[in-house]
Amino acid sequence: MTDTPTVTVTELTEDQARQELARLASDIAHHDQLYHGQDAPEISDRDYDVLRRRNEAIEGRFPHLVLKDSPTRRVGTVLSPTSGFAKVAHARPMLSLDNAFSPEDVHEFIAKVKRFLNLSNEDTLRLMAEPKIDGLSASLRYEKGVLVQGLTRGDGKVGENITQNLKTISDIPKKLEGSGWPDVLEIRGEVYMAKEDFFALNRHQEQAEKPPFANPRNAAAGSLRQLNSEITAQRNLHFFAYAWGEVSDSFGETQGACLRRMRDWGFTINDLAVVCEDGAAVISHYDEIGRLRAGLSYDIDGVVYKVDRLDLQERLGMVARAPRWAIAHKFPAEKALTTLRSVDYQVGRTGVITPVARLDPVTVGGVVVSNATLHNADEIHRLGIKVGDQVIIQRAGDVIPQVVDVAKTTEDSQEIIFPTTCPSCDSHLEREEGEVAWRCSGGLVCPAQRVERLRHFVSRNAFDIDGLGKKQIAFFFTEGMIESPADIFTLEQKDAQGLTRLKNRDGWGELSVVKLWQAINDKRIMAMDRFLFALGIPHVGQQNARLLCLNYLTMATFRAAMAAAQDPEGDAHGELLTIDGIGPKVADTLISFFGEPHNIAVLDQLLDQVTVAAFVAPDMGASPVAGKVVVFTGSLEKMTRQEAKASAEKLGAKVSGSVSKKTDILIAGPGAGSKLKKATALGVKTLTEDEWLDLIGS
Ligand code: IVH
Repeated sequence: MTDTPTVTVTELTEDQARQELARLASDIAHHDQLYHGQDAPEISDRDYDVLRRRNEAIEGRFPHLVLKDSPTRRVGTVLSPTSGFAKVAHARPMLSLDNAFSPEDVHEFIAKVKRFLNLSNEDTLRLMAEPKIDGLSASLRYEKGVLVQGLTRGDGKVGENITQNLKTISDIPKKLEGSGWPDVLEIRGEVYMAKEDFFALNRHQEQAEKPPFANPRNAAAGSLRQLNSEITAQRNLHFFAYAWGEVSDSFGETQGACLRRMRDWGFTINDLAVVCEDGAAVISHYDEIGRLRAGLSYDIDGVVYKVDRLDLQERLGMVARAPRWAIAHKFPAEKALTTLRSVDYQVGRTGVITPVARLDPVTVGGVVVSNATLHNADEIHRLGIKVGDQVIIQRAGDVIPQVVDVAKTTEDSQEIIFPTTCPSCDSHLEREEGEVAWRCSGGLVCPAQRVERLRHFVSRNAFDIDGLGKKQIAFFFTEGMIESPADIFTLEQKDAQGLTRLKNRDGWGELSVVKLWQAINDKRIMAMDRFLFALGIPHVGQQNARLLCLNYLTMATFRAAMAAAQDPEGDAHGELLTIDGIGPKVADTLISFFGEPHNIAVLDQLLDQVTVAAFVAPDMGASPVAGKVVVFTGSLEKMTRQEAKASAEKLGAKVSGSVSKKTDILIAGPGAGSKLKKATALGVKTLTEDEWLDLIGS
């Protein structure tokens, strides 16, 4: 094991850091192997944590030294405290898709892709159109042609190991057929249950007096998450392959070619997948699949379009969690008729009041709906809706059902009176000029807002604490046990000191409490982008959180910058605004968030409990430009400005809109003017577009 470090991270020289990172990577790998592989750890969890934290702290100071096999980048396994399946990091993230709801959205997608690639409207852009299977995605890892691991999607970065269950699916080859597969090959696709099997399963459930599944997707999910794989085997699940993750060699130049090779290796490929030459062909294929939909043996909820050429996919890259090169064109929402019985008002985490319709239960698209959103006061007015009316509701995919129209009103129908005070704290409601939403003015004193902020904090894309969902947060808040995020991390300690122990409360057993403490402790080291997102700062969603991480890299740097940015004349304020993508509105909310002493107190308490790992962009390990501030100016010839910015950010560079003494590299194309002059005057390194491409190895 590494000796206890004597030099603090801030004092390390670059050489020392390099040596220590190498040593830590090998030590941590050694302990991972003992723990996960042999179930025989040599050191305590606490000592192991010390190693990992030291590694992260060093990487935070020297992002350009992050090793390819750094423990922060490596695939590892941790047992999930609640599900019983081991959690495993995906070697490549499993992405989700943006949605299109109309042909206009699809044409806009195509136009955007062409703009990014600098193609003209007339240039052909081939798209693969594939049915969007309504199931669950899974990733299958083959090494030398043998299935070695199967994971759920999880949150896209970490999935659950369900290899044994996936092996029961007959569409999934345990050994690849044919030849020519890469040594490492991760095949991704959708696990689903055929409609017929779903109905049969529900008949079976009914006979056994068990609750029925709402739809084939839920039935497939329930079947896949069985701890006993014999039960999965009885459920007759299927699998369509349509994508891949890590591969040791590329195996085709287009999506179409890759699908064909996957078929040769024994996978089932959906036979409605076709290549389309233009937008019109895409839409007509969508219509065709729509006509076939009801007669298919499995559920689909749209059509996915993917740029066919893989070199173009590579150039397009991704934004947040979805690729720029694909989109899901969803089928129209399903509608149903029911009666509006009453309206309740919910308070969101920023105080927005949302009217919620309570309805006579009705089945829409296989799911029973009894609540739907009415959006806001203006929408109620626009619909002219009253309590007692017959209303049309619609539900599409995972989005919240909504009331879309009034079908029939009655003489007894009652006017809806929008409240003037908050249903939770009675503070008055206010509405800003030009906004549709009414907000509670109670701020920090409003219990509903506080609960919603806590719920956001533990939500899936934030801290994602297993076993601490909406219901449990409401319980702990009502009991006065969790009032601010830091309280989550002192809960175990307080519980141990308390008179009434959680394990003795209704609905909590000894095991569920132990699992909860474990799940909370698992989150004591948190990725910086999730951490910033969890804070719930207005306008700081996942994408902006990531952009801030990229520019500040560590929580300490970010906080210091936000404190300094309170001075509107200071450099830090100016720097925040130069971040390409952070506009004045976001900058203002950040500055006012960090200027509020209460927020600082909450943050400090939280940071006493949680270590925020330094940010590491996906390709930063091998990047020559990680952490460098770069500015593009003049016209670029090999790529569009958008593409240049995206590829630089992917490599961990910070793209700024203006030149200052902090600028590391100016990339100047023909026609560069004042920025080039300023850079030359400041002695900033200046590169041509080709030199830049050489530098980043593109
Ligand atoms: S491609 C990077 N293709 O839809 C692209 N996804 O809403 C990754 N899905 O998580 C996905 N059919 O579970 C792709 N033919 C298809 C699909 C498909 C269904 C699911 C998949 C994905 C979700 C996104």
